[in-house]
Amino acid sequence: MSERFDKAAKDWDKSDKRRQLSENIGNAILENVQFEPRMRVMDFGAGTGLLSGHIAPKVATIAAVDISQGMLDELGAKKELQHKVLTYCRNILHDPLEEEFDGIVSAMALHHVEDTDEILKVFYDHLKPGGFVALADLDKEDGTFHSHGNEGVYHFGFDRERFRAKLEAAGFTSVRFTTAHTFVKEGGRTYPVFLATASK
Ligand SMILES: C[S@@+](CC[C@H](N)C(=O)[O-])C[C@H]1O[C@@H](n2cnc3c(N)ncnc32)[C@H](O)[C@@H]1O
Repeated sequence: MSERFDKAAKDWDKSDKRRQLSENIGNAILENVQFEPRMRVMDFGAGTGLLSGHIAPKVATIAAVDISQGMLDELGAKKELQHKVLTYCRNILHDPLEEEFDGIVSAMALHHVEDTDEILKVFYDHLKPGGFVALADLDKEDGTFHSHGNEGVYHFGFDRERFRAKLEAAGFTSVRFTTAHTFVKEGGRTYPVFLATASK
């Protein structure tokens, strides 16, 4: 799957739709999470850093985690992020970081991870007590969202109540949802994107 994103990396940021999505998710996260300048945050599935770029001015450091070196190379080339963001090309499901974070943010990455229960537990283990998650992904859809095909897509979005139950089973509390963005595709078909926030 990382090859698919390696190939897409060079042109990733050229899409107005992707930039608009990241801006809306970034704004929803800033509205729902209290950031502090001392905080160390992980961006899971950070890609080229579109979301990291929104959060970076509010925190001390961001650990940008992704399995695609191509995507992370694009992030690493962004001068404005170089003093704040460290990149980690690794699968933290099998190879965790040796650091605990104040928070974990993520945009549109979880539907690419097969075992949702496990990744939520891994997030929990990477957080300091009182830490937060702010996770954005598609609401449940019928498999028509990815127009290029569903290779590497393990979930056609998520049902919010089931996702809440998974967060709670992983140990999270104070789970809240908001709608961060809505894609409108051809024929007026809509695909909402939720933001779930929760605390350790
Ligand atoms: C749809 S892109 C989103 C990228 C970025 N968050 C954004 O909003 O532009 C999904 C990203 O998740 C990454 N990804 C998929 N599985 C992953 C895993 N197990 N661990 C870390 N990153 C993963 C992909 O390589 C890709 O960069």
